[in-house]
Amino acid sequence: MEIVIVPDAAAGGELIATAIAELLTGKPDALVGVATGSTPLPIYQALAAKVRAGALDVSRARICQLDEYVGLPKGHPESYRSVVLREVLEPLGISESAFLGPDGSASDIAAAATAYDHSLAEAGGVDLQLLGIGTDGHIGFNEPCSSLASRTRIKTLTEQTRVDNARFFDSLDEVPHHVITQGIGTILEARHLVLLATGEAKAEAVAQAVEGPLSAFVPASALQLHPHATVVVDEAAATRLKLTDYFRATYAAKPAWQSL
Ligand code: GLP
Repeated sequence: MEIVIVPDAAAGGELIATAIAELLTGKPDALVGVATGSTPLPIYQALAAKVRAGALDVSRARICQLDEYVGLPKGHPESYRSVVLREVLEPLGISESAFLGPDGSASDIAAAATAYDHSLAEAGGVDLQLLGIGTDGHIGFNEPCSSLASRTRIKTLTEQTRVDNARFFDSLDEVPHHVITQGIGTILEARHLVLLATGEAKAEAVAQAVEGPLSAFVPASALQLHPHATVVVDEAAATRLKLTDYFRATYAAKPAWQSL
């Protein structure tokens, strides 16, 4: 894993947006997996700025979703499909026809989950998957003790995750209990994993994922299994890491031509 410590969230957003821009320059129809939550917003803002400045062409880019709530009606403003449309596709001017996501309102959720897994494979696989991290170490909605080999499926949220996400709803009661999420095995098939974590609330989860043992109890530790995983953290999220000097020195010594 490569650990990159940036001064703040905006710098992390710019760095990752630059890596996505480089990917799309070499492969204009790349499939980019996006994450929801507050953390990746600076990435999407930096990408939109590049598009507005004419520095990035996303006309052939394809976008896919990491996870989705189960049971929210189609078009609900907090369904992750709506969030991705609002925060990623619309600002970048990407059509919904270039967007893949699981159907959280399907009557047969198990079938919808399997179908989504297949659609990712049929699309040629994910080129770069963005990830955030939950305070309990989850990625996507793979809560602690998710199988490290899991495929896209239904999961039950922990109370902690529901409380963390309640800020997007009028009350905790409105936060769904169930979700569809790309499995950890599914996520690990993406060609490049890029996790962004910012703020002190994520520091412990980051330290466990990066420097702790590989464990289903900390789903983000599965990145240790991936040949090309990048973890970008701001100073606050880096406070519990032990090897910060080494990570800083390694990144500083990286050749300028080599991107993330
Ligand atoms: C949700 C999402 C995750 C995200 C996490 C952290 O649980 N399913 O993909 O990483 O929230 O969100 P935030 O970045 O807002 O802290």
